[in-house]
Amino acid sequence: MHKIAVVGSGYVGLVTGACLAEFGMEVTCIDRNIAKINGLKNGRIPIYEPGLEQLVKKHFHHKRLHFTTNIKTAVEESEVILIAVGTPTKEDGSADLKSVLQVAEDIAKYINGYKIIVDKSTVPVGTGQKVKQTIRNILSNKNNNTSFDVVSNPEFLREGSAINDFLKPDRIVLGVESKMAEKVMREVYAVPNGHGIPFIVTNLETAEMIKYAANAFLALKITYINEIANLCERVGADVKMIAEGMGMDHRISPKFLQPGPGFGGSCFPKDAKALAKTGRDNSLPLTLVEQTIIANELQKHRMIEKISNNMGDLKGKTLGVLGITFKPETDDMREAPSLVILEALVRKGAYIKVYDPAGEKEGRLRFNHIKDKVVFCQDEYTAIKEVDGILILTEWPQFKKIDLDYIKNQMKGNYFFDFRNIFERSAIEAKGFQYYCVGR
Ligand code: UDX
Repeated sequence: MHKIAVVGSGYVGLVTGACLAEFGMEVTCIDRNIAKINGLKNGRIPIYEPGLEQLVKKHFHHKRLHFTTNIKTAVEESEVILIAVGTPTKEDGSADLKSVLQVAEDIAKYINGYKIIVDKSTVPVGTGQKVKQTIRNILSNKNNNTSFDVVSNPEFLREGSAINDFLKPDRIVLGVESKMAEKVMREVYAVPNGHGIPFIVTNLETAEMIKYAANAFLALKITYINEIANLCERVGADVKMIAEGMGMDHRISPKFLQPGPGFGGSCFPKDAKALAKTGRDNSLPLTLVEQTIIANELQKHRMIEKISNNMGDLKGKTLGVLGITFKPETDDMREAPSLVILEALVRKGAYIKVYDPAGEKEGRLRFNHIKDKVVFCQDEYTAIKEVDGILILTEWPQFKKIDLDYIKNQMKGNYFFDFRNIFERSAIEAKGFQYYCVGR
Protein backbone atom coordinates (compact mmCIF):
# COMPACT_ATOMS: atom_id res chain seq x y z
CA MET A 1 0.00 0.00 0.00
CA HIS A 2 1.31 3.43 -0.91
CA LYS A 3 0.36 6.74 0.67
CA ILE A 4 -0.92 9.06 -2.00
CA ALA A 5 -1.83 12.74 -1.97
CA VAL A 6 -4.12 14.08 -4.68
CA VAL A 7 -3.90 17.85 -5.03
CA GLY A 8 -7.13 19.26 -6.44
CA SER A 9 -10.44 17.67 -5.49
CA GLY A 10 -12.33 18.53 -8.64
CA TYR A 11 -13.68 16.05 -11.12
CA VAL A 12 -10.43 14.26 -11.95
CA GLY A 13 -8.93 14.52 -8.45
CA LEU A 14 -11.95 13.16 -6.66
CA VAL A 15 -12.55 10.26 -9.03
CA THR A 16 -8.83 9.42 -8.97
CA GLY A 17 -8.64 9.61 -5.17
CA ALA A 18 -11.69 7.41 -4.62
CA CYS A 19 -10.56 4.84 -7.20
CA LEU A 20 -6.99 4.65 -5.90
CA ALA A 21 -8.48 4.00 -2.44
CA GLU A 22 -10.46 1.19 -4.11
CA PHE A 23 -7.12 -0.16 -5.40
CA GLY A 24 -6.00 -0.38 -1.76
CA MET A 25 -3.99 2.85 -1.48
CA GLU A 26 -4.30 5.30 1.39
CA VAL A 27 -5.30 8.55 -0.24
CA THR A 28 -5.57 12.14 0.93
CA CYS A 29 -7.49 14.51 -1.32
CA ILE A 30 -6.50 18.13 -0.96
CA ASP A 31 -8.30 21.27 -2.02
CA ARG A 32 -7.94 24.88 -0.99
CA ASN A 33 -11.72 25.31 -1.00
CA ILE A 34 -12.66 24.79 2.67
CA ALA A 35 -16.38 24.48 1.98
CA LYS A 36 -15.72 21.71 -0.57
CA ILE A 37 -13.47 19.79 1.81
CA ASN A 38 -15.91 20.13 4.72
CA GLY A 39 -18.72 19.01 2.44
CA LEU A 40 -16.74 15.96 1.33
CA LYS A 41 -16.05 15.02 4.95
CA ASN A 42 -19.81 15.05 5.42
CA GLY A 43 -20.46 12.96 2.35
CA ARG A 44 -21.47 15.85 0.06
CA ILE A 45 -20.09 15.25 -3.42
CA PRO A 46 -19.75 18.51 -5.39
CA ILE A 47 -20.25 16.88 -8.80
CA TYR A 48 -22.74 14.51 -10.37
CA GLU A 49 -21.00 11.27 -11.29
CA PRO A 50 -22.72 7.88 -11.00
CA GLY A 51 -21.10 5.68 -8.33
CA LEU A 52 -18.77 8.35 -6.98
CA GLU A 53 -20.74 9.12 -3.82
CA GLN A 54 -20.85 5.48 -2.71
CA LEU A 55 -17.14 5.02 -3.36
CA VAL A 56 -16.16 8.20 -1.51
CA LYS A 57 -18.36 7.35 1.46
CA LYS A 58 -17.11 3.76 1.60
CA HIS A 59 -13.43 4.66 1.69
CA PHE A 60 -13.89 7.70 3.92
CA HIS A 61 -15.68 5.42 6.36
CA HIS A 62 -12.87 2.87 6.21
CA LYS A 63 -10.31 5.67 6.68
CA ARG A 64 -8.61 4.96 3.39
CA LEU A 65 -9.71 8.27 1.92
CA HIS A 66 -9.07 11.55 3.74
CA PHE A 67 -9.86 15.16 2.92
CA THR A 68 -7.86 18.20 3.92
CA THR A 69 -6.97 21.76 2.97
CA ASN A 70 -3.53 21.30 4.49
CA ILE A 71 -1.18 20.62 1.58
CA LYS A 72 1.91 20.76 3.83
CA THR A 73 1.01 17.75 5.94
CA ALA A 74 -0.33 15.84 2.95
CA VAL A 75 2.93 16.34 1.04
CA GLU A 76 5.03 15.41 4.06
CA GLU A 77 3.09 12.24 4.73
CA SER A 78 2.79 10.96 1.14
CA GLU A 79 5.15 9.13 -1.09
CA VAL A 80 3.26 9.80 -4.31
CA ILE A 81 1.69 13.21 -5.01
CA LEU A 82 -0.76 13.56 -7.86
CA ILE A 83 -1.41 16.95 -9.41
CA ALA A 84 -5.05 17.06 -10.49
CA VAL A 85 -5.81 20.78 -10.70
CA GLY A 86 -7.51 22.61 -13.56
CA THR A 87 -5.77 23.70 -16.75
CA PRO A 88 -8.29 26.10 -18.30
CA THR A 89 -7.93 27.41 -21.83
CA LYS A 90 -6.22 30.76 -22.18
CA GLU A 91 -7.23 33.35 -24.76
CA ASP A 92 -4.69 32.00 -27.28
CA GLY A 93 -5.98 28.41 -26.97
CA SER A 94 -3.12 27.17 -24.79
CA ALA A 95 -3.66 25.47 -21.44
CA ASP A 96 -3.14 27.69 -18.41
CA LEU A 97 -0.51 25.98 -16.23
CA LYS A 98 -0.65 28.48 -13.37
CA SER A 99 -2.33 26.09 -10.92
CA VAL A 100 -0.14 23.11 -11.90
CA LEU A 101 3.07 25.08 -11.36
CA GLN A 102 1.72 26.56 -8.13
CA VAL A 103 1.25 23.02 -6.80
CA ALA A 104 4.80 22.19 -7.93
CA GLU A 105 6.03 25.16 -5.88
CA ASP A 106 4.06 24.02 -2.84
CA ILE A 107 5.49 20.51 -3.16
CA ALA A 108 9.02 21.95 -3.35
CA LYS A 109 8.30 24.00 -0.24
CA TYR A 110 7.20 21.06 1.89
CA ILE A 111 9.18 18.15 0.43
CA ASN A 112 10.81 16.13 3.21
CA GLY A 113 12.14 13.05 1.39
CA TYR A 114 11.95 11.21 -1.95
CA LYS A 115 8.60 11.86 -3.65
CA ILE A 116 7.03 10.87 -6.92
CA ILE A 117 5.13 13.78 -8.42
CA VAL A 118 2.53 12.71 -10.94
CA ASP A 119 0.85 14.93 -13.51
CA LYS A 120 -2.74 13.76 -13.74
CA SER A 121 -4.11 17.00 -15.14
CA THR A 122 -4.16 17.15 -18.92
CA VAL A 123 -1.08 19.19 -19.66
CA PRO A 124 0.67 20.10 -22.91
CA VAL A 125 3.81 18.28 -23.87
CA GLY A 126 6.74 19.72 -21.95
CA THR A 127 4.83 20.36 -18.72
CA GLY A 128 6.40 17.42 -16.87
CA GLN A 129 9.81 18.98 -17.52
CA LYS A 130 8.50 22.37 -16.36
CA VAL A 131 7.20 20.84 -13.13
CA LYS A 132 10.57 19.18 -12.62
CA GLN A 133 12.45 22.41 -13.27
CA THR A 134 10.19 24.43 -10.97
CA ILE A 135 10.80 22.05 -8.08
CA ARG A 136 14.49 21.72 -8.84
CA ASN A 137 15.00 25.52 -8.91
CA ILE A 138 13.32 26.00 -5.55
CA LEU A 139 15.25 23.14 -3.96
CA SER A 140 18.60 24.28 -5.30
CA ASN A 141 17.96 27.82 -4.02
CA LYS A 142 17.64 26.26 -0.59
CA ASN A 143 20.64 23.92 -1.11
CA ASN A 144 18.18 21.10 -0.60
CA ASN A 145 19.24 17.96 -2.46
CA THR A 146 16.15 15.86 -1.74
CA SER A 147 15.51 13.63 -4.74
CA PHE A 148 12.20 13.33 -6.55
CA ASP A 149 10.76 12.03 -9.80
CA VAL A 150 8.13 13.44 -12.09
CA VAL A 151 5.68 11.08 -13.81
CA SER A 152 3.05 11.74 -16.46
CA ASN A 153 -0.04 9.59 -15.94
CA PRO A 154 -2.86 11.01 -18.05
CA GLU A 155 -6.45 9.98 -17.40
CA PHE A 156 -9.02 8.96 -20.00
CA LEU A 157 -12.17 9.39 -17.93
CA ARG A 158 -15.50 10.01 -19.58
CA GLU A 159 -18.00 11.91 -17.49
CA GLY A 160 -20.86 9.66 -16.53
CA SER A 161 -18.68 6.54 -16.61
CA ALA A 162 -15.56 7.90 -14.93
CA ILE A 163 -15.46 5.32 -12.13
CA ASN A 164 -15.64 2.42 -14.52
CA ASP A 165 -13.13 4.08 -16.85
CA PHE A 166 -10.70 4.45 -13.96
CA LEU A 167 -11.19 0.98 -12.52
CA LYS A 168 -11.16 -0.75 -15.91
CA PRO A 169 -9.29 1.47 -18.36
CA ASP A 170 -8.16 0.32 -21.81
CA ARG A 171 -4.56 1.08 -20.82
CA ILE A 172 -2.54 2.80 -18.13
CA VAL A 173 -0.08 5.31 -19.54
CA LEU A 174 3.06 6.04 -17.51
CA GLY A 175 5.65 8.55 -18.60
CA VAL A 176 8.60 7.95 -16.30
CA GLU A 177 12.24 8.89 -15.96
CA SER A 178 13.50 6.43 -13.35
CA LYS A 179 13.19 2.75 -12.52
CA MET A 180 12.12 3.67 -8.98
CA ALA A 181 9.18 5.80 -10.21
CA GLU A 182 8.17 3.07 -12.65
CA LYS A 183 8.25 0.43 -9.90
CA VAL A 184 6.08 2.46 -7.52
CA MET A 185 3.59 3.44 -10.23
CA ARG A 186 3.27 -0.18 -11.36
CA GLU A 187 2.45 -1.02 -7.72
CA VAL A 188 -0.14 1.75 -7.50
CA TYR A 189 -1.92 0.26 -10.50
CA ALA A 190 -1.27 -3.38 -9.63
CA VAL A 191 -4.99 -4.15 -9.21
CA PRO A 192 -6.17 -3.20 -12.74
CA ASN A 193 -2.93 -4.54 -14.23
CA GLY A 194 -3.66 -7.83 -12.45
CA HIS A 195 -6.97 -7.90 -14.31
CA GLY A 196 -5.19 -7.70 -17.62
CA ILE A 197 -5.05 -3.94 -18.20
CA PRO A 198 -1.78 -3.20 -20.00
CA PHE A 199 0.76 -0.55 -19.08
CA ILE A 200 2.30 1.73 -21.67
CA VAL A 201 5.57 2.84 -20.12
CA THR A 202 7.34 5.60 -21.97
CA ASN A 203 8.98 8.98 -21.45
CA LEU A 204 7.22 12.09 -20.11
CA GLU A 205 6.76 13.77 -23.47
CA THR A 206 5.25 10.72 -25.15
CA ALA A 207 2.81 10.13 -22.29
CA GLU A 208 1.70 13.76 -22.44
CA MET A 209 1.20 13.54 -26.20
CA ILE A 210 -0.76 10.27 -26.03
CA LYS A 211 -3.53 12.03 -24.14
CA TYR A 212 -3.81 14.92 -26.60
CA ALA A 213 -3.41 12.75 -29.67
CA ALA A 214 -6.17 10.41 -28.44
CA ASN A 215 -8.64 13.15 -27.51
CA ALA A 216 -8.09 15.16 -30.67
CA PHE A 217 -8.49 11.99 -32.73
CA LEU A 218 -11.85 11.22 -31.10
CA ALA A 219 -12.97 14.82 -31.62
CA LEU A 220 -11.92 14.50 -35.25
CA LYS A 221 -13.77 11.20 -35.61
CA ILE A 222 -17.02 12.77 -34.34
CA THR A 223 -16.51 15.78 -36.60
CA TYR A 224 -15.94 13.49 -39.56
CA ILE A 225 -19.22 11.66 -39.06
CA ASN A 226 -20.97 15.02 -38.52
CA GLU A 227 -19.71 16.20 -41.90
CA ILE A 228 -20.69 12.94 -43.56
CA ALA A 229 -24.13 13.32 -41.92
CA ASN A 230 -24.54 16.80 -43.36
CA LEU A 231 -23.70 15.50 -46.81
CA CYS A 232 -26.12 12.57 -46.34
CA GLU A 233 -28.96 15.06 -45.93
CA ARG A 234 -28.16 16.59 -49.32
CA VAL A 235 -27.77 13.32 -51.21
CA GLY A 236 -30.50 11.24 -49.60
CA ALA A 237 -28.22 8.80 -47.74
CA ASP A 238 -28.65 7.52 -44.19
CA VAL A 239 -25.74 8.27 -41.85
CA LYS A 240 -26.79 5.63 -39.35
CA MET A 241 -26.31 2.88 -41.92
CA ILE A 242 -23.09 4.50 -43.06
CA ALA A 243 -21.70 4.55 -39.51
CA GLU A 244 -22.75 0.93 -39.16
CA GLY A 245 -21.13 -0.01 -42.45
CA MET A 246 -17.95 1.87 -41.59
CA GLY A 247 -17.85 0.60 -38.02
CA MET A 248 -17.86 -3.04 -39.05
CA ASP A 249 -14.40 -2.47 -40.41
CA HIS A 250 -12.34 -3.32 -37.33
CA ARG A 251 -9.79 -0.73 -38.27
CA ILE A 252 -12.46 1.97 -37.86
CA SER A 253 -14.72 0.57 -35.05
CA PRO A 254 -18.31 1.73 -34.53
CA LYS A 255 -17.50 3.89 -31.50
CA PHE A 256 -17.64 7.67 -31.65
CA LEU A 257 -19.49 7.65 -34.94
CA GLN A 258 -22.73 9.13 -33.59
CA PRO A 259 -23.51 12.37 -35.43
CA GLY A 260 -25.03 15.19 -33.43
CA PRO A 261 -25.02 18.92 -32.74
CA GLY A 262 -21.24 18.99 -32.17
CA PHE A 263 -18.99 17.71 -29.41
CA GLY A 264 -18.72 19.54 -26.11
CA GLY A 265 -17.50 18.90 -22.60
CA SER A 266 -14.50 19.79 -20.53
CA CYS A 267 -11.95 17.90 -22.64
CA PHE A 268 -12.40 17.67 -26.38
CA PRO A 269 -12.80 21.39 -27.17
CA LYS A 270 -10.06 22.39 -24.71
CA ASP A 271 -7.62 19.67 -25.70
CA ALA A 272 -8.12 20.19 -29.44
CA LYS A 273 -7.39 23.90 -28.98
CA ALA A 274 -4.33 23.23 -26.84
CA LEU A 275 -2.93 20.69 -29.31
CA ALA A 276 -3.52 23.06 -32.21
CA LYS A 277 -1.65 25.75 -30.27
CA THR A 278 1.27 23.36 -29.62
CA GLY A 279 1.41 22.67 -33.37
CA ARG A 280 1.47 26.39 -34.18
CA ASP A 281 4.09 27.04 -31.50
CA ASN A 282 6.28 24.42 -33.14
CA SER A 283 5.72 25.87 -36.64
CA LEU A 284 3.83 22.71 -37.58
CA PRO A 285 0.17 23.68 -37.84
CA LEU A 286 -2.01 20.59 -37.32
CA THR A 287 -4.42 21.28 -40.15
CA LEU A 288 -6.85 18.49 -39.29
CA VAL A 289 -7.09 19.55 -35.66
CA GLU A 290 -7.51 23.22 -36.65
CA GLN A 291 -10.31 22.27 -39.04
CA THR A 292 -11.97 20.06 -36.44
CA ILE A 293 -12.33 23.05 -34.14
CA ILE A 294 -13.84 25.17 -36.91
CA ALA A 295 -16.14 22.41 -38.20
CA ASN A 296 -17.45 21.75 -34.70
CA GLU A 297 -18.51 25.40 -34.34
CA LEU A 298 -20.15 25.25 -37.77
CA GLN A 299 -22.07 22.15 -36.74
CA LYS A 300 -23.82 24.03 -33.93
CA HIS A 301 -24.77 26.77 -36.36
CA ARG A 302 -26.10 24.20 -38.86
CA MET A 303 -28.49 23.03 -36.15
CA ILE A 304 -29.72 26.59 -35.60
CA GLU A 305 -30.24 27.02 -39.34
CA LYS A 306 -32.07 23.72 -39.55
CA ILE A 307 -34.57 24.98 -36.99
CA SER A 308 -35.08 28.44 -38.47
CA ASN A 309 -35.14 27.22 -42.09
CA ASN A 310 -37.94 24.82 -41.24
CA MET A 311 -39.93 26.79 -38.67
CA GLY A 312 -39.56 30.12 -40.45
CA ASP A 313 -39.60 33.32 -38.39
CA LEU A 314 -39.00 32.29 -34.77
CA LYS A 315 -40.41 35.50 -33.28
CA GLY A 316 -42.95 34.57 -30.63
CA LYS A 317 -42.53 30.82 -31.21
CA THR A 318 -41.77 28.46 -28.34
CA LEU A 319 -39.48 25.44 -28.36
CA GLY A 320 -39.51 22.68 -25.75
CA VAL A 321 -35.88 21.68 -25.26
CA LEU A 322 -35.04 18.27 -23.86
CA GLY A 323 -31.48 18.05 -22.58
CA ILE A 324 -28.95 20.87 -22.28
CA THR A 325 -25.90 19.13 -20.78
CA PHE A 326 -23.06 18.26 -23.17
CA LYS A 327 -24.00 14.60 -22.88
CA PRO A 328 -26.24 12.38 -20.69
CA GLU A 329 -25.48 11.27 -17.11
CA THR A 330 -23.78 14.50 -16.20
CA ASP A 331 -24.77 17.96 -14.96
CA ASP A 332 -21.84 19.46 -16.85
CA MET A 333 -22.57 22.19 -19.36
CA ARG A 334 -19.05 23.13 -20.31
CA GLU A 335 -18.95 23.78 -24.07
CA ALA A 336 -22.37 22.14 -24.43
CA PRO A 337 -23.85 22.79 -27.89
CA SER A 338 -27.01 24.00 -26.10
CA LEU A 339 -25.15 27.12 -24.96
CA VAL A 340 -24.70 28.35 -28.53
CA ILE A 341 -27.93 26.95 -29.92
CA LEU A 342 -30.36 28.25 -27.28
CA GLU A 343 -28.72 31.66 -27.21
CA ALA A 344 -29.11 31.96 -31.00
CA LEU A 345 -32.74 30.80 -30.92
CA VAL A 346 -33.57 33.39 -28.27
CA ARG A 347 -31.80 36.05 -30.32
CA LYS A 348 -34.05 35.08 -33.21
CA GLY A 349 -37.06 35.78 -30.99
CA ALA A 350 -37.92 32.29 -29.70
CA TYR A 351 -39.05 31.37 -26.20
CA ILE A 352 -37.50 28.27 -24.66
CA LYS A 353 -38.88 25.75 -22.19
CA VAL A 354 -36.15 23.45 -20.89
CA TYR A 355 -36.06 20.14 -19.11
CA ASP A 356 -32.82 18.38 -18.23
CA PRO A 357 -32.65 15.61 -15.62
CA ALA A 358 -29.43 17.00 -14.09
CA GLY A 359 -28.57 20.27 -15.81
CA GLU A 360 -31.08 22.71 -14.31
CA LYS A 361 -28.83 24.23 -11.65
CA GLU A 362 -25.94 24.89 -14.02
CA GLY A 363 -28.34 25.81 -16.83
CA ARG A 364 -29.99 28.53 -14.75
CA LEU A 365 -26.57 30.14 -14.25
CA ARG A 366 -25.52 29.75 -17.87
CA PHE A 367 -28.75 31.18 -19.26
CA ASN A 368 -29.17 33.80 -16.56
CA HIS A 369 -28.62 36.62 -19.09
CA ILE A 370 -31.62 35.41 -21.11
CA LYS A 371 -33.69 34.18 -18.20
CA ASP A 372 -36.83 36.03 -19.24
CA LYS A 373 -36.85 33.88 -22.41
CA VAL A 374 -35.70 30.55 -20.94
CA VAL A 375 -37.98 28.75 -18.50
CA PHE A 376 -36.93 25.60 -16.64
CA CYS A 377 -39.50 22.84 -16.22
CA GLN A 378 -39.73 19.93 -13.80
CA ASP A 379 -40.16 17.22 -16.41
CA GLU A 380 -40.23 16.58 -20.16
CA TYR A 381 -44.01 16.76 -20.35
CA THR A 382 -44.18 20.23 -18.80
CA ALA A 383 -41.40 21.37 -21.14
CA ILE A 384 -43.30 20.46 -24.30
CA LYS A 385 -46.74 21.71 -23.20
CA GLU A 386 -48.13 24.15 -25.77
CA VAL A 387 -44.83 24.54 -27.65
CA ASP A 388 -44.44 24.89 -31.40
CA GLY A 389 -41.58 22.45 -31.59
CA ILE A 390 -39.61 19.95 -29.59
CA LEU A 391 -35.79 20.00 -29.68
CA ILE A 392 -33.66 17.14 -28.33
CA LEU A 393 -30.08 18.19 -27.65
CA THR A 394 -28.93 15.50 -25.18
CA GLU A 395 -29.75 11.81 -25.45
CA TRP A 396 -30.86 11.15 -21.86
CA PRO A 397 -32.25 7.56 -21.94
CA GLN A 398 -35.61 8.63 -20.49
CA PHE A 399 -36.37 10.80 -23.55
CA LYS A 400 -36.54 7.68 -25.67
CA LYS A 401 -39.44 6.46 -23.58
CA ILE A 402 -41.48 9.63 -23.93
CA ASP A 403 -45.21 9.12 -24.65
CA LEU A 404 -45.42 10.42 -28.22
CA ASP A 405 -49.23 10.45 -28.43
CA TYR A 406 -49.47 12.43 -25.23
CA ILE A 407 -46.91 15.04 -26.24
CA LYS A 408 -48.47 15.44 -29.67
CA ASN A 409 -51.75 16.30 -27.96
CA GLN A 410 -50.09 18.69 -25.54
CA MET A 411 -48.06 20.56 -28.17
CA LYS A 412 -49.32 23.51 -30.19
CA GLY A 413 -47.15 22.81 -33.25
CA ASN A 414 -45.69 19.64 -34.69
CA TYR A 415 -41.98 20.34 -35.27
CA PHE A 416 -39.72 17.61 -33.92
CA PHE A 417 -35.94 18.27 -33.98
CA ASP A 418 -34.08 15.18 -32.85
CA PHE A 419 -30.43 16.25 -33.03
CA ARG A 420 -29.22 13.09 -31.32
CA ASN A 421 -31.02 10.73 -33.70
CA ILE A 422 -32.69 8.87 -30.86
CA PHE A 423 -35.91 8.16 -32.77
CA GLU A 424 -36.78 6.57 -36.10
CA ARG A 425 -38.28 8.95 -38.65
CA SER A 426 -41.17 6.62 -39.52
CA ALA A 427 -42.28 6.31 -35.87
CA ILE A 428 -42.33 10.07 -35.34
CA GLU A 429 -43.92 10.95 -38.65
CA ALA A 430 -46.62 8.34 -38.04
CA LYS A 431 -47.72 10.42 -35.03
CA GLY A 432 -48.12 13.49 -37.21
CA PHE A 433 -44.88 15.30 -36.42
CA GLN A 434 -42.54 16.97 -38.92
CA TYR A 435 -39.30 15.18 -38.11
CA TYR A 436 -35.76 16.57 -38.51
CA CYS A 437 -32.62 14.81 -37.34
CA VAL A 438 -28.95 14.70 -38.33
CA GLY A 439 -27.92 12.96 -41.52
CA ARG A 440 -30.90 10.74 -42.12
C1 UDX B 1 -13.80 12.70 -23.19
C2 UDX B 1 -12.97 11.45 -23.51
O1 UDX B 1 -13.82 10.42 -24.00
C3 UDX B 1 -12.18 11.01 -22.30
O2 UDX B 1 -11.34 9.92 -22.65
C4 UDX B 1 -11.33 12.18 -21.82
O3 UDX B 1 -10.56 11.86 -20.71
C5 UDX B 1 -12.22 13.37 -21.51
O4 UDX B 1 -12.97 13.71 -22.66
P1 UDX B 1 -16.13 13.24 -22.02
O5 UDX B 1 -15.86 14.66 -22.39
O6 UDX B 1 -16.58 12.94 -20.65
O7 UDX B 1 -14.81 12.34 -22.25
O8 UDX B 1 -17.25 12.70 -22.99
P2 UDX B 1 -17.41 11.79 -24.28
O9 UDX B 1 -18.35 10.71 -23.96
O10 UDX B 1 -16.11 11.40 -24.84
O11 UDX B 1 -18.18 12.79 -25.26
C6 UDX B 1 -17.62 14.05 -25.62
C7 UDX B 1 -18.54 14.80 -26.56
O12 UDX B 1 -18.59 14.17 -27.82
C8 UDX B 1 -19.98 14.90 -26.08
O13 UDX B 1 -20.47 16.19 -26.34
C9 UDX B 1 -20.72 13.85 -26.91
O14 UDX B 1 -22.06 14.16 -27.09
C10 UDX B 1 -19.94 13.94 -28.20
N1 UDX B 1 -20.01 12.71 -29.00
C11 UDX B 1 -19.40 11.57 -28.55
C12 UDX B 1 -20.68 12.70 -30.21
O15 UDX B 1 -21.25 13.72 -30.64
N2 UDX B 1 -20.71 11.55 -30.94
C13 UDX B 1 -20.09 10.41 -30.54
O16 UDX B 1 -20.15 9.42 -31.28
C14 UDX B 1 -19.43 10.42 -29.29
